[in-house]
Amino acid sequence: MSPKLKCINCGAEYRDDEIVYVCRKCNSLLDVVMEIPKVSLNEFKKREFGIWRYREFLPIEEGCEIITLKEGGTPLYECDKLAKWVGVKKLYIKYEGMNPTGSFKDRGMSVGVTKAKSLGLKSVACASTGNTSASLAAYAARAGLKCYVILPENKVALGKLAQAMMHGAKVMSVKGNFDEALRLVMELSSKMGLYLLNSVNPWRLEGQKTLAFEVIEQLGHVPDIVAVPMGNCGNISAIWKGFKEFYKSGIINKLPRMFGIQAEGAAPVVNMLRKGLNRLIPVSNPETIATAIRIGNPVNWPKAVMALKESNGLFETVSDNEIIEAQRLIASLEGIGVEPASAASVAGVRKAVLNNVIDKENEVVCIGTGHLLKDPEEVIKVCGRPIEIPSDIRAILNIL
Ligand code: F0G
Repeated sequence: MSPKLKCINCGAEYRDDEIVYVCRKCNSLLDVVMEIPKVSLNEFKKREFGIWRYREFLPIEEGCEIITLKEGGTPLYECDKLAKWVGVKKLYIKYEGMNPTGSFKDRGMSVGVTKAKSLGLKSVACASTGNTSASLAAYAARAGLKCYVILPENKVALGKLAQAMMHGAKVMSVKGNFDEALRLVMELSSKMGLYLLNSVNPWRLEGQKTLAFEVIEQLGHVPDIVAVPMGNCGNISAIWKGFKEFYKSGIINKLPRMFGIQAEGAAPVVNMLRKGLNRLIPVSNPETIATAIRIGNPVNWPKAVMALKESNGLFETVSDNEIIEAQRLIASLEGIGVEPASAASVAGVRKAVLNNVIDKENEVVCIGTGHLLKDPEEVIKVCGRPIEIPSDIRAILNIL
């Protein structure tokens, strides 16, 4: 059976060669449906560590040209000192900053751009808070495709902007936030025939499933909790799908609880769950230091809510100060440099322990979604500048 797309609301189905992002009948999100392969972990272990090791779980036809920069295969660090600070028995960081462009987006873009190429498309596009555009620009360059990007003006970290520009994307910035940029790029894509690679594209999310597969392999078992910062909510949905597929294939026999964390000023999903609503009320002016997750109207909220409900999951918000504190401690206690959005996961777990929502005996994996160097300006703002010294050793000793 070749993979197909299925509407998560009305069940309408679409072929895998149709260019469709949301259901034509009811406008809801689509999911990739495929036969769950039967492959053993031992078989995977014989192959190179990276997303294409899980080839059978990726819905790309045999014979397609694979567009890869050797994404995935990132380290899972055991963090004992951080675990003490957070208050749990065991804490791990899955360090996605080690991907080719420094974030987890590369997993999705490898599959998404491979799909674009197999469909014969010449141009790709996205809106972005930064990392998606950096990643898409790099993979489009690798594939020889044109890349169009719309960013919220003055709200994209410098490192991410530099990447998108240098990899040759046509970069546009709009006076508005990510939600407006996404609305514009969706319209632009349909008018110009560009292939949209935001996380509303279900093929892209298939690549991000591999985060779950790698955690299982590296840990050797299923953790109690997997904590993920939520922005547009694609990643938490993809990781949950990955765990479910390993479960269905018989590779694992239990599932973790998913823990979704948002920044206080950009928390539409957590607000909705706290109030017990069944519809999202968008945040019209989202604001947080974690610009990667500064999103008020996340497209994938229905999938994220499903992941949290199905996994008996948890949700929490964290303040900018809590994010910065966690970012500092991840960097200074463990030597792992993450950007603010990534630190939100660790800050959220600590808060949940303090509030007695998470048991101290739990083993937790936090997804460190992006690299510290993505946002150097934020680092300088919170750490300050280097100490200025004269070129005189005695004066330096005096200062120290
Ligand atoms: N962490 C980082 C570093 C991100 O860049 C993003 C999303 C997230 C977490 C949240 O993931 O959207 O799947 O819930 N960044 C997108 C972008 C929106 O445009 O780069 P999500």
